[in-house]
Amino acid sequence: MTPELGLDFKSMPKIELHAHLSGSISRQCLHEIWEMKKAARKTDLEDPLLVMPPGRHDYDLKTFFPLFSSYIYNLIDDVSSLEHSTKSVIRDFAHDGVVYLELRTTPRAMPTAGLDKAGYVDTVLRAIEDARADTPTLHTRLILSIDRRNSLDEAGEAVALAKLFRDRGVVAVDLCGDPTKGDVSLFTPVIEEARAAGLKITIHFAEAEASASEAELNTIMSWMPDRLGHVIHVSEAIKRQIAERGGIGLELCLSCNVHAKMIVGSFEAHHFGGWWRVDGPIVVPCTDDVGIFGSPLSNEWRLIQHHFRLQREEILGLAKKGIGAIFAGDGERERLRRLMW
Ligand code: IMP
Ligand code: ZN
Repeated sequence: MTPELGLDFKSMPKIELHAHLSGSISRQCLHEIWEMKKAARKTDLEDPLLVMPPGRHDYDLKTFFPLFSSYIYNLIDDVSSLEHSTKSVIRDFAHDGVVYLELRTTPRAMPTAGLDKAGYVDTVLRAIEDARADTPTLHTRLILSIDRRNSLDEAGEAVALAKLFRDRGVVAVDLCGDPTKGDVSLFTPVIEEARAAGLKITIHFAEAEASASEAELNTIMSWMPDRLGHVIHVSEAIKRQIAERGGIGLELCLSCNVHAKMIVGSFEAHHFGGWWRVDGPIVVPCTDDVGIFGSPLSNEWRLIQHHFRLQREEILGLAKKGIGAIFAGDGERERLRRLMW
């Protein structure tokens, strides 16, 4: 509770638009999965609570990505752990007062479990459908991510899966992964294919200096993305372009950027401060990877209020404005309007 504003950020209905499934799994949930696998002699991995001690959130771009490739993906490697972790992530968001969630994930084959990428997406969607009974107020959609290291064929596969599963709640494609890797211009044809199919587009944008060359940012802007994630290393010219593209969503992730030292300085130096009043873009505070950086969405709002001194009506107005950036249809927008007004 923030007494001076009479706001309880946990019970305030919130929209989360930038959350990576595997990065949103709590350490407790990873530990439970590890315990079950250990008991069934199905894993040699170390306890996740030792690999990622509770309270450690200072992962930077060098230590962050290997957490997935060398640990989390080896633990979440079959249908039951994927289902269990997806439901746990949804439950955690619901308990934090999130009423609309766009979860994103990179389709990943699990060969030892006999699961191809389509099976992976199907399992995640089934878990989302099942979770609805326990947390009816939270509505979840899915975004499929292309990884910057993907080949054109692999990226095309992600778009094909997004098209295939559209009627079960896949709304968009994302481009993510290690910003020091890959050349995004490779993906132009598949992004255009996704757009032509009616899918929405959200892109990790200028997250690190390595992914903020003028050429890369101009390529991405030419894709006419509906939303951009992070938006850190941007020139004044790019900022103007963004501001002039009416209604573009900006998914800003404060704790992630501060803990991973992606920005210079701390919360008060975050570019949220420069964007939230700008006319045109729709700024939406997001968690990115709450399992790693440890700050639930309610805490991101608390940090925003604390560091940028927003008034009660400004907080509530900004939260509602986020409805304009969601990828679901009019019915969902209407439901959110009713919940948030
Ligand atoms: P998944 O796609 O559900 O497996 O979620 C984890 C994946 O999301 C990681 O392997 C990264 O590719 C991607 N990811 C998570 N956080 C970030 C980020 O801040 N920047 C870029 N990619 C990210
Ligand atoms: Zn991200």
